[in-house]
Amino acid sequence: MITQAIRQVIDLLKQGKVVAIPTETVYGLAGDATNDMACAQIFELKGRPTFNPLISHVYSLEEALKLGDFSKQALQLAEHFWPGPLTLIVKRKANCPISYLASAGLDTIALRVPSHPLMREVLKGVQTPLAAPSANPSGFLSPTTAQHVEKQFHEKLVVLDGGTCAVGIESTIVDTSVPIPCLLRPGILTAADLKKVIPNLSTNLISDKINAPGQLKSHYKPTLPLRINASYPLNEGEALLAFGANIPEGYKKVLNLSETENLKEAAAHLFAYLHLLDSPKYKGIAVMPIPNVGIGLAINDRLKRASFS
Ligand code: TXA
Ligand code: MG
Repeated sequence: MITQAIRQVIDLLKQGKVVAIPTETVYGLAGDATNDMACAQIFELKGRPTFNPLISHVYSLEEALKLGDFSKQALQLAEHFWPGPLTLIVKRKANCPISYLASAGLDTIALRVPSHPLMREVLKGVQTPLAAPSANPSGFLSPTTAQHVEKQFHEKLVVLDGGTCAVGIESTIVDTSVPIPCLLRPGILTAADLKKVIPNLSTNLISDKINAPGQLKSHYKPTLPLRINASYPLNEGEALLAFGANIPEGYKKVLNLSETENLKEAAAHLFAYLHLLDSPKYKGIAVMPIPNVGIGLAINDRLKRASFS
């Protein structure tokens, strides 16, 4: 059902404005991906370096096929996982209308068909691809609620409130523009999930090469210093982001990502709990070790970058 709020967002987007919209992963800062000015506005609002390209969101695979050239394996992944938290890098089609600003001048584009019902209503209404990076200032914590967006952008934006994002971390990114598809960013869809569909997926993330610049060493940062693999308090006044049932004592405040060590639950809580702990009430945030398997790889990827100074 199209509500007044959805209609307003569709109208703003059609006028080339930028708005915040929920997706199943995180909230996105969305604008018309074919409009240079709208894309410029996204980069400006986020304070994002323009060499870091944006993901374009489309309603369906059919729409995606109009924009990019899909290899056989790209098609297999899209058919299997879309709509959902997977972004595919594909070669840009000759007459692709996506702004070169959105794709940072590359001859490839990043495409995703999201599953969030509000984002889908908006995409259906605007009938144009929407460029949408996570709706946070560049380098900082990703937003998983409308309130996170409002907190970080104050009154500057219209935010479509779709409650809490179910996945909680950004989409898995696979580069399918190269002969052997390569995992660029881990997410809730793990390498094992993807390999069931394309067994030759390469997982040799080339961390030093800026081919997915979201993969910069320092990223996803709270304001407070963040310490990973913590097993006991080091500094007085530290808050703890715990995992599992055995929680060390002595922390000023504890939030538990998952008492039952459920990694999917932990991913869903990750940014929301970091937002809660990122308060002047504490001196730092310590995070307990998270197993480096499956979805744990995606969580540790975010935590490692958040702790990098
Ligand atoms: O879940 C998500 O993916 C969220 C929601 C809003 O959809 N969006 C998101 O966007 O995380 P952003 O901008 O924060 O991350 C986009 C990532 C960056 O790491 C960027 O470098 C990479 O996608 N990317 C975009 N276009 C690319 C391209 N042509 N080649 C390689 N990497 C690309
Ligand atoms: Mg981001």
